Amino acid sequence: MITMKTLEELYVAIEHLNMEGGWHRRQPSLWPEPKANFLSAHWRYAEVKPILEAAGHLVDHHLAERRNLTLTNPLQGNWYSTVRTLVAAYQSIKPGENALSHRHTPNALRIILEGHGTYTVVNGMRVEMRPGDVLLTPSWHWHSHEAIGPDECFWVDVLDVPLVHLLEPMFFEHHPERCEPVKENVASSPLAFRWENSVHRLDAQTESPANGTAEREIELGSPAMKTIAVHVQRMSAGFDSTLHKTTANAVFTVLSGSGTSRIGDHEFKWSKGDVLAVPSWQPYQHHVMEDAHLVRVSDEPVMRAFDFLYGR
Ligand SMILES: [Fe+2]
Repeated sequence: MITMKTLEELYVAIEHLNMEGGWHRRQPSLWPEPKANFLSAHWRYAEVKPILEAAGHLVDHHLAERRNLTLTNPLQGNWYSTVRTLVAAYQSIKPGENALSHRHTPNALRIILEGHGTYTVVNGMRVEMRPGDVLLTPSWHWHSHEAIGPDECFWVDVLDVPLVHLLEPMFFEHHPERCEPVKENVASSPLAFRWENSVHRLDAQTESPANGTAEREIELGSPAMKTIAVHVQRMSAGFDSTLHKTTANAVFTVLSGSGTSRIGDHEFKWSKGDVLAVPSWQPYQHHVMEDAHLVRVSDEPVMRAFDFLYGR
């Protein structure tokens, strides 16, 4: 027997059962194109490095397993992510320090900015990290870092932790021996993309990406990891990339050179070591002032896997 005689009574009954009528949503669930929720953002290495150096005096590796500074997108309510699916962080390690071994389901990579004599051990393979190198730590691989040379080493980490937060399969554990034993010292590894190899491949590159987003571009891996793609770009002084937007979320790290980038409604002046957040569907364009190399880290593999990768 129907006892509800008014729309109001109907809606009360629907809400009482934790339901919502698709014809009168409080908020739309579908819209014509992406909303570009996350904000464009820029971090200057010149401002970050002194803070990392100060942290090196105040925060030792007993207090912080990793001495890192995550780059939090200024989107209101966001507490962690750099863009929707990725988090970037600056990290440093001082001579004599050892960042203990752990593993987690999120995929991670390191882009080395400065410093020699630092090594990473990934699943027992010990390899040096040098400026310009990109080193991978795929999901559930043990990893630790140690600095045995004279330099403090600085790098940028990018991880897919926000994607793992969304999907929920987070697992993390410390190595039972604190430092994972080294099985083998290696000069090269499929998980280490050397700067000299990137330079060699860029030198041999003759064509620009069809969408005009860089002058030359190579991909490290195909893709580097299941959720993260890494591209190294080279652009000469005076080069202007085309204005482009894509559903893929990206974090750019400046390895060399300088320039300006318009991302969304903001313009950022960048130089070596800086990081730029280019969230999904924010239009962006680079203008290069001094010959530059940028590393573009994106969630393209995720977007592509689900047929969500669009650009214009
Ligand atoms: Fe880690």
